[in-house]
Amino acid sequence: MNFIKKIIYKIQETNHNKNVDIPCKAPFSSMYFCVDGKMSLCCYNKIDTFGSYPENSIREAWFGSKRKVMLDKIRNNEYPMLCQLCLNRKQENVIQARMTQIFDTYDINTKYPYELSFECSNVCNLNCVMCFNNLPYRSKKQKTEEDQNKKEVYNDNFIAELKEFIPHIKIAKFLGGEPFLIPIYYKIWDAILQLNPQCQIMITTNGSILNERIRELLGRGNFNICVSIDSLEKTNYEKIRLNSSYEVVTKNLEYFIDFCKEKNRNIIITTCFMQQNCKEIPDIIKFCNKNEIELFINQVWLPSDSALWNSNSSLLKDILNLYNNIKLPDDTEVQRKNLKTFNELIGFVTIWHKNTLKNEKKKIKFQNLETSQLKKVLYNNISAYLEKQTKSDEIDLIKTEIEKILNAQNDEEKIRDMITYYINTPPEFIHIVVLSDLFNLLY
Ligand SMILES: C[S@@+](CC[C@H](N)C(=O)[O-])C[C@H]1O[C@@H](n2cnc3c(N)ncnc32)[C@H](O)[C@@H]1O
Ligand code: SF4
Repeated sequence: MNFIKKIIYKIQETNHNKNVDIPCKAPFSSMYFCVDGKMSLCCYNKIDTFGSYPENSIREAWFGSKRKVMLDKIRNNEYPMLCQLCLNRKQENVIQARMTQIFDTYDINTKYPYELSFECSNVCNLNCVMCFNNLPYRSKKQKTEEDQNKKEVYNDNFIAELKEFIPHIKIAKFLGGEPFLIPIYYKIWDAILQLNPQCQIMITTNGSILNERIRELLGRGNFNICVSIDSLEKTNYEKIRLNSSYEVVTKNLEYFIDFCKEKNRNIIITTCFMQQNCKEIPDIIKFCNKNEIELFINQVWLPSDSALWNSNSSLLKDILNLYNNIKLPDDTEVQRKNLKTFNELIGFVTIWHKNTLKNEKKKIKFQNLETSQLKKVLYNNISAYLEKQTKSDEIDLIKTEIEKILNAQNDEEKIRDMITYYINTPPEFIHIVVLSDLFNLLY
C-alpha cells in the first residue's frame, strides 16, 4: 500500500476530530526546520515562522505564543499570505491536491506534530540552475567556499531536543542541500530508528550520491526515496543540474527503484516544472507510468527566468497544444495519479496563458502611462488582492520594499520594466518575489 495512504489510514483510526472545514491543516500538525534555523509552518511557507533555532528551543517554538496566535488566526480562516499559493489553487480546483490533502486527515488538536521536515543545511554537490538555495548567488559570481561551509545552526543539542518530538511523529522528511551529504541527518536518522522505528522517512535526493553507508542505512528503517529528475535527456538534464552526471543518476535511480519495490517502500520522482523542461513532462510521465512511479511536480515560482508564469504566451500556447494532444492511460492507481498531476499542470498553464495574453495586451497600454501612473496600477492591483484576503494592512510594508528596489535602479527604463514585471506577477506571490529581489539587492 502506498506509504502516504498508510499514514492517512493510521491517522484516521485515531482521528476523532475531522475538522473538515479547515482548508489546510499543515500549520496544526507539521513543523519545518529551515536552513537558517527558522521554524515554520511547512515547506511551502518558510516566511511565517514561529521561532528560530538556537535562540528558541524546539519546544518554545512549537508550544509558544507566536505559533498559538498564528493558529488562532488560521482557525478564523486568516491564513498567512504565502499559504494562499496553495489555497487559491485548491479553490480553483487546479492544485496538486496532495499538497494540502496529505494533511487533511490530521487532527488539528494534536499536541505534538505528526510531521517534521528538515532543511538543516544547503550543502550540495550540484549547482542547479533553478535551485532556490542558489537564488541569492544568481546575481553574483558564484557560491564561495565560505558560503558552502557556513557554520550550520543545528547541533547535537538540537538532536537532544528533537528526542521529545520524535516518538510522536508519523513522518519525517529530509531535504537540503543534498540530504546524503548532510552530517546531522545521519544523527537524526539514528535517533528516529532508535525512538520510533515505525516512522516513515522520506528523503528527497538529487540521486547523485550512493555508497555502501547509504545502502546499509536504507535497509535499517522505513526509508522512502524521492529522486529529483528534471529531464530524461542527457544534454538538458546536465544543463539544468549543473555538476551532475546523467549516467550516474540514472544508474542510481535504477538502484533506488529496485530497492523500494523489493522492500515495499515508496519511490517518487519529483520534477521541477519550468521553462527549461516543460515540453518533456509527457515523456517523464510515460517513464514514471512504465516504472509504476508516482510523479510529484515542484512548481517553480522563482527564479522568474525559469518560471512558466513569467514566460510568453506563445510558449504557453505551445505547451497547451502539446499537452492537449497527449492521451495518457488511467488503468492503474499510479497512472490515474499521474494523469491527475498532468491535468493539474494543464490547469496551471491555462491560467498562466490567459494571464499572459491579458498582460501582453496591457503592455501596449502601459507604454503610454507615466511611471507614476504605472506605479499606481501596481499598488492598486496589490491592494485589491490584499483586500480580498483581508490583509490590507500589509500593503504599506510591500510598498516600502518595492520602493527600495525601485530607488536602487538608476535607469528609468529599468524602473518601468520592474514595475511591469511586478504587475504581471501573480498577486499571491508578489511578496516572495519582492523579498527575493530585495535580498539580491542587499547582499
Ligand atoms: C532544494 S532540493 C533538496 C534536495 C536535493 N538536493 C534535490 O535536488 O532533490 C528539494 C527539491 O526542490 C526542488 N527545487 C529546486 N529548486 C526549486 C525551485 N526553484 N522551485 C521549486 N522547487 C525547486 C528540487 O528539484 C528538489 O526536488
Ligand atoms: S541538487 Fe538540490 S539542493 Fe543541490 S543545487 Fe540542485 S536542487 Fe539545489
